[in-house]
Amino acid sequence: MPITAIYGPDDFAKRPQDRPASPARRPAGERGLALPRPSLAWTPEVERATAHLYDRVKDVIPPIEWPLMAPTIKAINELKKARNAVILAHNYQTPEIFHCVADIGGDSLQLAVEATKVKSDVIVQCGVHFMAETSKLLNPDKTVLIPDSRAGCSLAASITGADVRLLREKFPGVPVVAYVNTSAEVKAEVDICCTSSNAVQVVESLRAPSVIFLPDQYLAKYVASKTDVKIIAWKGACEVHERFTGAELRSYREADPSVQIIAHPECPPDVLAEADFTGSTAHMINWVREKRPKRLVMITECSMADNVRAELPDVEMLRPCNLCPHMKRITLSNILDSLLTLQEEVTIDPAIAARARRSVERMINLKN
Ligand code: 13P
Ligand code: SF4
Repeated sequence: MPITAIYGPDDFAKRPQDRPASPARRPAGERGLALPRPSLAWTPEVERATAHLYDRVKDVIPPIEWPLMAPTIKAINELKKARNAVILAHNYQTPEIFHCVADIGGDSLQLAVEATKVKSDVIVQCGVHFMAETSKLLNPDKTVLIPDSRAGCSLAASITGADVRLLREKFPGVPVVAYVNTSAEVKAEVDICCTSSNAVQVVESLRAPSVIFLPDQYLAKYVASKTDVKIIAWKGACEVHERFTGAELRSYREADPSVQIIAHPECPPDVLAEADFTGSTAHMINWVREKRPKRLVMITECSMADNVRAELPDVEMLRPCNLCPHMKRITLSNILDSLLTLQEEVTIDPAIAARARRSVERMINLKN
């Protein structure tokens, strides 16, 4: 059914879009934490030590680019051992990060679940800030680092904790579900979190006739189309997925009627109406592994198509390229800096963390 009502930032307070840079910290060298910068020369030894990694990405990274990346990749993999660190990487990270330095890759739900299991001292989150916050919430004793703390998200920036309190005043007693693409401050105000993998299941688990679902209006519409629960939505949108159009998808099909098209549920409804399959990034990858289409269009952030093509070179990808500028703030170079200096460390006010953790854990503990 259509969503019941929709509210947005204009109905409440105004706020800036981007995440502010973290306040300047005392340099790690002064704190006695920095490690010496390794040599980043391309040598026969680097070539030998990274040959098995190049094999994983040879279909998506040209040989001429590898000597520029391999020394940093080798240095990062050595530093992970020295720091007792693991790297968690979202499916939207570039192939040299996703396939060559990450220990665990996945969608938001998989990364959250994996974060609860990490035994190492340090987690380096290659993704955006809300993902690093989620790891910190779920494993608070670890040092959680994000290589660039400005890596935000248009959805997370669209809503504040104060907005959620105002929605609750307007709809007393109506439970609130927050997409994980929100700040810890927002998670602290809601009843439960969800990801695009489990949004319908989470909404239905509340057994309520109406649910406030925030902040993604398109994911809210997708959920509303799959359930009888009445959905009150928020006007947030993903700046990457909202740019796709149904007309664009129709043009791919006209050019090749045999092409398969799969889309992320953050896309507008006219886009999802044209897709052969809709699912989270992990569900999309599993669909490709299972169906092995000959020609495929992935309607999502474009590094994911590179990561899948590296794994499944027999699947021919048409690549409409919408980049997430926030995900792209993470680079090999700042991952290396992060491990050398142990910055930028993600911290959360303990009073907020306790309440936000409850919302995320409630989602993770939901029985299938
Ligand atoms: P997934 O949970 O599907 O990985 O989505 C996260 C995200 O930010 C998509 O834009
Ligand atoms: Fe946020 Fe969209 Fe980027 Fe995902 S792709 S992090 S939802 S802006």
